[in-house]
Amino acid sequence: MKFSIDGKERTLTGFDALSNNEMKALIYKEFLKEGLSLPWGILTGIKPLKLYAKADDKEAFKEKFFISDEKFELMERTFKNQHLNFEPKYSLYIHIPFCKGICSYCSFYTNDISKKDFDFTKYIDTVIDEMKIESKIRDISEPDSIYIGGGTPSAIDRANTQRLLKYINENYKFKELTFECGRADTMDKDLLDILDKYGVSRICINPQTMNEETLKRVHRNAGFDELYKVYELARGYDFDINMDLIIGLEGEKRDDYINSVKKLIAMRPESITIHNLALKIRAVLAQNDFKLENINLSKEIYARLYEAGYEPYYMYRQKMTNSNLENVAFSLRSKASIYNVISMNDLTSIYAFGAGAVSKYIDKDNLERKFNYKDIDLYIKNVYNKDI
Ligand SMILES: C[S@@+](CC[C@H](N)C(=O)[O-])C[C@H]1O[C@@H](n2cnc3c(N)ncnc32)[C@H](O)[C@@H]1O
Ligand code: SF4
Repeated sequence: MKFSIDGKERTLTGFDALSNNEMKALIYKEFLKEGLSLPWGILTGIKPLKLYAKADDKEAFKEKFFISDEKFELMERTFKNQHLNFEPKYSLYIHIPFCKGICSYCSFYTNDISKKDFDFTKYIDTVIDEMKIESKIRDISEPDSIYIGGGTPSAIDRANTQRLLKYINENYKFKELTFECGRADTMDKDLLDILDKYGVSRICINPQTMNEETLKRVHRNAGFDELYKVYELARGYDFDINMDLIIGLEGEKRDDYINSVKKLIAMRPESITIHNLALKIRAVLAQNDFKLENINLSKEIYARLYEAGYEPYYMYRQKMTNSNLENVAFSLRSKASIYNVISMNDLTSIYAFGAGAVSKYIDKDNLERKFNYKDIDLYIKNVYNKDI
């Protein structure tokens, strides 16, 4: 095999009898000789902790994949915090694919309600019917956790939010119910009252950055007056609050990120999730020729979170990310989300509802996925078995 590092050509031979990992290791060693290394070495894949958990000899695992001390310690620390004090059975996920404007970095499947009207009543009716249909196939009435995610679930009207939550509250028993509000500009006291009344235990209010200029740049029109106001209001209820940040957003520099982290720590949400920007082809940014800055602040940011009492409890990786780094959720003691621990480790099946939702059927080591139609009309037709 021929390849070059910084213009210097290399030739490696004898690959025929080698496994993929052995080939990667041979090539990686050539990079090490040039003083070039990666935080995760040659370890790829979305869920590094699943491999870590399976490895009998953790040190050998570290060496086999050339994982840096820093990332290995992060894995050890995260793994330790993934306790559930019960035997999980299954969980439910409900997808609400609507947003008030599309953020420039986003590649999630969602629909822009500022551009087109959608019939939320029909959508929520269908989601409820889909759940009822599933209930006839299996008992899903006592899930460990339920996650209502998006998109921006709080972007739909209050009457339909209330209808969905009332149905869930009256028909399901659960330990945790998350409502991923996301953007502060879709939240108000009426919404919080509804969430509280129907048993929501966890909400997300995601700033992504604490720099208002950046928010405008990434077309996320959720200002800080709203953020602080909504956060204060939400603190008046019993919710655990998660807040997301992204490292690598267009135009941000080291001080912006550190400032964002400091401000979030000062607010003391129960959890803070640090994402590194992933540049995905569907995102407006990627279509605008944006290049990743490749800024690596994880050591400094995580140290600040540790010092403030936050511990990592789940992590995942994506392709094409800022500095090839990971996404990590940190929480205060005993505030890890049940749903996230279960879903990130594929501990149990997750039955998912709504357009674009993906169900996971897990039986011991076997995992199968079922994908719902993303298009709203196709999704609705399919639930009612109409010709597509
Ligand atoms: C399901 S998403 C969106 C939740 C909600 N709609 C919002 O924007 O607040 C969950 C999180 O993924 C992160 N995220 C979204 N796009 C990303 C990207 N391109 N790279 C890295 N993280 C991203 C954001 O922090 C976001 O809050
Ligand atoms: S980042 Fe969140 S709010 Fe922004 S478009 Fe994506 S799903 Fe919607």
